Amino acid sequence: MAKPEASASNRPFPLASGTGGPMAALVTGGSVGLGLALARELADHGCTVLICARTQADLDAATAADRRLIAIRADVSQAAERERLMAEAERLAGHPLDLLVNNAAIVRAHDYASAFTLAEDRAAPEIATNLAAPIDLARLFLRARHGRVDSPAAILNVSTPGAFFPLDANPLYCATKAAFHMFTLSLRRHLAGGPVRVFEVFPPALDTRLADQLVVASQAANGQQVIDAVARETVAGLLAGEETILPHEQSRALIAMFPQFDMAMVDAVNRGVERRPGWDSE
Ligand SMILES: NC(=O)c1ccc[n+]([C@@H]2O[C@H](COP(=O)([O-])OP(=O)(O)OC[C@H]3O[C@@H](n4cnc5c(N)ncnc54)[C@H](OP(=O)(O)O)[C@@H]3O)[C@@H](O)[C@H]2O)c1
Repeated sequence: MAKPEASASNRPFPLASGTGGPMAALVTGGSVGLGLALARELADHGCTVLICARTQADLDAATAADRRLIAIRADVSQAAERERLMAEAERLAGHPLDLLVNNAAIVRAHDYASAFTLAEDRAAPEIATNLAAPIDLARLFLRARHGRVDSPAAILNVSTPGAFFPLDANPLYCATKAAFHMFTLSLRRHLAGGPVRVFEVFPPALDTRLADQLVVASQAANGQQVIDAVARETVAGLLAGEETILPHEQSRALIAMFPQFDMAMVDAVNRGVERRPGWDSE
């Protein structure tokens, strides 16, 4: 798979709503780890920040430590929960969300040569959480904003360099992130020229809870200070309008290993695959 293409238009994204008021941001998985650091950083930049996660105790701890954050308990892997989450977020913000940060993800260890992995479907939770959920949240976000042509808004998808190469210990994580990356590229093309920008960030290995079934050698060095720095760089990238955000040396080194798309070729291929008239009336 190819490296994310350089954006044709790295216009700054000032994190200010069309009305001049604060932007309302939802950070999924904003109770701990990188999501919490991103939530705080967005609040530092004046956003009204809503966070969601499944574990009430973590949400309580996050909001007790930072009173600016507003928590909604929700499991984004469940369709009904996503509808409720987005409606509740809009109600609490007082208007449709301006920024959706698709950050929540899970990682599980798998080995398709082991009896444990083969015994039952252990792939579904990662597909639901890392792929189906952010795609559907993007839909709900865009549906709520449909027709608001003068209001800037953005979707920030949290990817990983692991979207670009096979990870033997956690293949569903890299498969779901690879698919999510491809969705992000298509979404950006659909929305090009409109008020909603699509950003994608590739964090390095971070010492969070994410990979608790794995031993990741490079994680230990990247504790809270690095997590906070990655969040700072991510929001700086957003403000600068960098649609592909590489917030750490490790992200840049890993992503540099992959060839870049020839966007003229991508455009040419896309011109050869059109929607049939009537596709949207079935
Ligand atoms: N850590 C790394 O090395 C690394 C590297 C590259 C990219 N990333 C990406 O960075 C993002 C954040 O990861 P992290 O390392 O900060 O992970 P983390 O510390 O494990 O945090 C994950 C967050 O997602 C929430 N979450 C998980 N499943 C959920 C669900 N079904 N519904 C709602 N919330 C859910 C968790 O809360 P609950 O469990 O309470 O729901 C938690 O708040 C992920 O997209 C990950 O792929 C991480």
